[in-house]
Amino acid sequence: MIAARLVRFGDPPGFALEHVDDPVPGPGEVVVALRTAALNRRDWWIWTDPDSCTLPVTMGSDGAGVVSAVGQEVDGVAVGDEVVVDATLGWGEREDEPGEAFDILGVPLDGTFAEQVVVPATNVAPRPARLTWEEAAALSLAGLTAWRAVVTCAGARPGATVLVTGAGSGVSTFAVQIAVALGARVFVTTSTDAKLARALELGATAGCSYRDPAWPERIVELAGGELDAAVDSYGGPSWAGALRTLRRGGTLVSFGDTGGTRATVEVADVYWQWRRVLGTTMGSPREYRALLAHVETASWRPVVDSVYPLAEIAAAARRLDDPERFGKIVLSLDTPPRPPS
Ligand SMILES: NC(=O)c1ccc[n+]([C@@H]2O[C@H](COP(=O)([O-])OP(=O)(O)OC[C@H]3O[C@@H](n4cnc5c(N)ncnc54)[C@H](OP(=O)(O)O)[C@@H]3O)[C@@H](O)[C@H]2O)c1
Repeated sequence: MIAARLVRFGDPPGFALEHVDDPVPGPGEVVVALRTAALNRRDWWIWTDPDSCTLPVTMGSDGAGVVSAVGQEVDGVAVGDEVVVDATLGWGEREDEPGEAFDILGVPLDGTFAEQVVVPATNVAPRPARLTWEEAAALSLAGLTAWRAVVTCAGARPGATVLVTGAGSGVSTFAVQIAVALGARVFVTTSTDAKLARALELGATAGCSYRDPAWPERIVELAGGELDAAVDSYGGPSWAGALRTLRRGGTLVSFGDTGGTRATVEVADVYWQWRRVLGTTMGSPREYRALLAHVETASWRPVVDSVYPLAEIAAAARRLDDPERFGKIVLSLDTPPRPPS
């Protein structure tokens, strides 16, 4: 098969289409012939960090396709099934944390930027019937992260107020829509009026620019009072402001640090306000199934910013940092990729 392999670290990174061996399913595993895959910020962290892995490597955590081979001891999955891939490996039985075997598909294990991927059979699920192949690929990693952040951690419910920072991010486009679907009133920060307009189309009530130093006060004003929860992945520079948007007893949910790894906060803004800070990453198999069940009946759709053929992965990688991007970048395998002869 052909894989779009990372061959040079950097920003921009170097990719090459290469022939690699077809994956063979071991016991309990299946091979998925991919129709679509999707990029995540995780991929950027990998291709910009020379210490992240050895090269060449097949990245990619998200994918949707058709099961093409099934290993021994696999029940409930058959060749020909149309599936989405859950990138969370080895979560285990607990809900509050994964077990020691936790990992994410796509480095160190070969991922979805290829014609085929091998995964545990428990990591595939029927493709939600109402989603396109592109939307299906966009769903899994970002949708699951958003589901756990918004539902499990922020407790979104009818009447609750939730802040989502950086509304244009891949995960945030899910967080906004999931919280709205559960009946919450959602407020956002973002970079431009155009992105704010898109967030309002997704169901957000109101929002403002995160470039305004007084954004926390502006959010509280827009919401008519302090909020129940803030869902943030910008990290260090965001925490102090996000805490200030919260009511007493409110919850700051953190799942990323795009903007910086260190935060300076007033400790009393936590304990003297009875607030909680909850960290979360990915989600359990039960949460993934709950997300898929929700998607079957929900009216929202994953926000696909753009679709590139696998052979144009370098252009897709550039688009990740385009300030106009809103939502997810998808790779299509509908046109068979051809390496240079
Ligand atoms: N823990 C997990 O399981 C998990 C899962 C997925 C992602 N993550 C992490 O979460 C972060 C977001 O991931 P992603 O894939 O959604 O990223 P992404 O699509 O690359 O989004 C980056 C976003 O950062 C926002 N941003 C820029 N400056 C900001 C500021 N000053 N305040 C608030 N937001 C700002 C921008 O929002 P606008 O477009 O609105 O300007 C931009 O869209 C990354 O750090 C990623 O590694 C963690």
